[in-house]
Amino acid sequence: MALSPQWLDELRMRTTLSAVIGRTLRLTKAGREFKACCPFHNEKTPSFYVNDEKGFYHCFGCEAHGDAIRWLTDQRGMPFMDAVKELAAEAGMEVPAPDPRAAQRAEKRASLHDVTAAAQDWFVGNLKSADGAQARAYLGRRGFSDATIREFGFGYAPEDRQALKRALGKFDEPMLIESGMRISVEDKEPYDRFRGRLMLPIHDMRGRVIAFGGRVLDPEGKPKYLNSPDTPLFDKGRTLYNLHRAAPAARQSGRMIVVEGYMDAIALANAGIREAVAPLGTALTENQIELLWRQVERPILCFDGDNAGQRAAMRAIARVLPMLRPAHSLAIVRMPAGKDPDDLIREKGVAAIEELLARPASLLDMLWEFEKAAAPLDTPEDKAGLKARLLDHVEAIQHPDIRALYKRELLERFSALAFPPRPPREFQPRGDWKKGNFRQPAPALTPEARASLTRAMQGGARDALTRAVIAGLVRFPDQILRHEEALGDLARRDQNVGSAIDLLLEAAETLDLSAQSTISLERGLPAPPEKAHFAFLDEGTDPGDAREDLAEAVSLLVERPALEAALAAATARFERDPEGSIAEQTRLRERLLALNERLKRFGRRKAAAIGESES
Ligand code: UTP
Ligand code: MN
Repeated sequence: MALSPQWLDELRMRTTLSAVIGRTLRLTKAGREFKACCPFHNEKTPSFYVNDEKGFYHCFGCEAHGDAIRWLTDQRGMPFMDAVKELAAEAGMEVPAPDPRAAQRAEKRASLHDVTAAAQDWFVGNLKSADGAQARAYLGRRGFSDATIREFGFGYAPEDRQALKRALGKFDEPMLIESGMRISVEDKEPYDRFRGRLMLPIHDMRGRVIAFGGRVLDPEGKPKYLNSPDTPLFDKGRTLYNLHRAAPAARQSGRMIVVEGYMDAIALANAGIREAVAPLGTALTENQIELLWRQVERPILCFDGDNAGQRAAMRAIARVLPMLRPAHSLAIVRMPAGKDPDDLIREKGVAAIEELLARPASLLDMLWEFEKAAAPLDTPEDKAGLKARLLDHVEAIQHPDIRALYKRELLERFSALAFPPRPPREFQPRGDWKKGNFRQPAPALTPEARASLTRAMQGGARDALTRAVIAGLVRFPDQILRHEEALGDLARRDQNVGSAIDLLLEAAETLDLSAQSTISLERGLPAPPEKAHFAFLDEGTDPGDAREDLAEAVSLLVERPALEAALAAATARFERDPEGSIAEQTRLRERLLALNERLKRFGRRKAAAIGESES
């Protein structure tokens, strides 16, 4: 009987793996997992882990790996259907009745597998024969070892329109066509799809041949690569070349590499890097990204450093932004322009690529670098354009917490780039600056403005941090535009300070830019009550440090509500489903605590700067 993948997923989801395994094996808790001495090999210290969240067990000693069904078949020796029935009964699920059409389809797939397996044997045989001399020479020139050639199953399809048909005579023509090995065009005799090509088998997760790729040997030949069409066995968008070999290697190394071409995946394996996969001539699909995430949290995508390669990287990023969630991301390696991993290994050796793989860019870095370089940044229109592009990417992110953090980080980088702080004028000695002797006249504040700022600083604002930030900006107006975006957010959220912030933004725009760093709006305004708690409000703090402290305070103000909202949402979910979101809630709480730690640090930093006398 054929059970649908969706039904099996549901069954896995409703099954608590540790409970199933716990019946035959003594498990001890190890963080978020359980561990035990591995039942599949002999050992004295536990290297067998059970992860309920992922629904998998894994042994780091012998590589035994599987889900609840696999456990029952492999460890308890049950037939597959019996295992499924037992788990379904426990999960309260109905095993679907046998569907004759599904059974037929499964049978057909089985026989198509026979066709592709037979074709693979034949291609491999051809490569060894006299016919295969040119292909063997080509493989030699590419530097693939005999072991690599064997492992990856290279073969050869001869230059003959009917050779495969003759060799695979025991299968009828419709099957040869349905498996993608032959092409039928109206009125004409069907003919072999792959001719005069170096052949590569494409496998499914279970290591069965489901399709082929063929590379021309004649440098003038077109197309360079030809793949099997989609067939009942082969769905390009759901297949990653080499995944069945790369997945076990990736689980060991914790690294998964995605390259553009299958020859690159093979070149990497040939050089000893076994955890590389490639899509099949198309952009990465959502399904392929999920496949990668089942192996590692942060697969590394390698792209050509030229413009086309960078655009391809951005397409992959656009696809993945809506899918981002905690512990599910991507990293990106930019290859030297015009080089693929295969070229790089041949020219510079495997160390060159290891070096690149060791420091990939984060998704956020890649977004930032790409958009920053995409257009000039000279005019306000240019700057607004960059900001709009960044915010478009942010909007695509579905996960609220991740979206808020991307927004904050990208806008911070944007402000720093678009409104760089000016260095202090050199002829003004710092000591005198502190005493204020050389201050330029402050821009005039109207009496109303003065009153409004006074109110905000003295208690109108929601809390001490907000009041302190306003006082800090009054003191360092050159910093106002740097935080324009965050302040805009804040003004919208906190009605009590909205008008004060608008006043500050207005004042910042009328400042004499060249003198920015030497003036302050402070004159005539009272000190805020929190003056003693924030180093950036203290006259004794180095002005550079004070500005950075102020920036930290602004980012805390922005980050806090997003985290608080996420925590509230997680708490609500937790109440509905106590099992479901403990991990998420704990994680958010930890981050809220970290945030509060950062808040407290202002006090500490100040205490350190002026001695403990005040604390
Ligand atoms: P490339 O043209 O970059 O080839 O195509 P490559 O991987 O460097 O191959 P070599 O080194 O010249 O042998 C990258 C990928 O794009 C797909 C294939 O999947 C290929 O691996 N492709 C390329 C096609 O499907 N058809 C083509 O005609 C060309
Ligand atoms: Mn290449």
